[in-house]
Amino acid sequence: MNSATRKFIFHDLQTIEGYIDPPDALVFLSLLQRQNSDNLDGGIAEIGVFYGRSYYLFRKICGPDEKLLAIDLFDIGQTGDGASPQYGRFLDNGRRLGLAVDEALVVTGDSTRLSASEIKDKIGEVRFFSIDGGHMLPHIVADSRLAKDSLAPHGIIAFDDTFNPAWPEVTVGVADFLRENGAEFSAFCMTKYKTYVCRRDHHQFYYDTIANAADLTAFDHTETEFLGSKVARLHNPISRRMVYELMIRSGMSAFSERVYR
Ligand SMILES: C[S@@+](CC[C@H](N)C(=O)[O-])C[C@H]1O[C@@H](n2cnc3c(N)ncnc32)[C@H](O)[C@@H]1O
Repeated sequence: MNSATRKFIFHDLQTIEGYIDPPDALVFLSLLQRQNSDNLDGGIAEIGVFYGRSYYLFRKICGPDEKLLAIDLFDIGQTGDGASPQYGRFLDNGRRLGLAVDEALVVTGDSTRLSASEIKDKIGEVRFFSIDGGHMLPHIVADSRLAKDSLAPHGIIAFDDTFNPAWPEVTVGVADFLRENGAEFSAFCMTKYKTYVCRRDHHQFYYDTIANAADLTAFDHTETEFLGSKVARLHNPISRRMVYELMIRSGMSAFSERVYR
């Protein structure tokens, strides 16, 4: 287990408004570390940065030199004159945590208008692509195509908000993607919030990575069948989630990591 990164996940990351919670942060950590140790290189791309919670997790795990592409409209709270505080708050979070942003690799705009060649020109082929931007079907169709066409042979796509009843079109989009590209891609892991996909010839490799990850032993591992492939489903029991939330709310975030050992 990597105690410095775990401390970051359970303490510092919680100070950034955003949507990746510790179970998925530990999945990101386990997958990226496995890629690092096996020299599976490539860039990292994220659609939907918000205030940088996942971005700074990538930065913490992969270091200041990793090619990390951030794509967002950066228009939250926009006023009549077109100004939005979102980008400034994203940068402030990095300064506060001492983590670098490569502003040459920040794309402000609609991801559905980007091409895979623009992504590859900036960061090369992608080893980890996180999709958490627009949550309607046309967004998922465009973003998943972008990921597919820029992905390294060993690349992973993480889709956020799958099976969330608040965003049903995400689930439809991911299922459509897997059915249309089922000969090439399959899901290998699912959590409460995310579905992780890779090329079929890497399915067993990433499935085993999740099954054997030292940072994921706290979760119940079960196997689920999803559109023709076995998926490692990580279950986080409600009792643990309650203890964790209580610790966070009572200012004990520094100790909350122990709940997930
Ligand atoms: C749920 S938030 C992302 C949360 C983030 N991944 C985190 O770790 O906290 C969704 C983000 O997607 C962005 N977004 C929505 N539609 C988009 C689009 N078409 N292109 C690019 N970004 C988009 C929004 O501006 C917002 O910041």
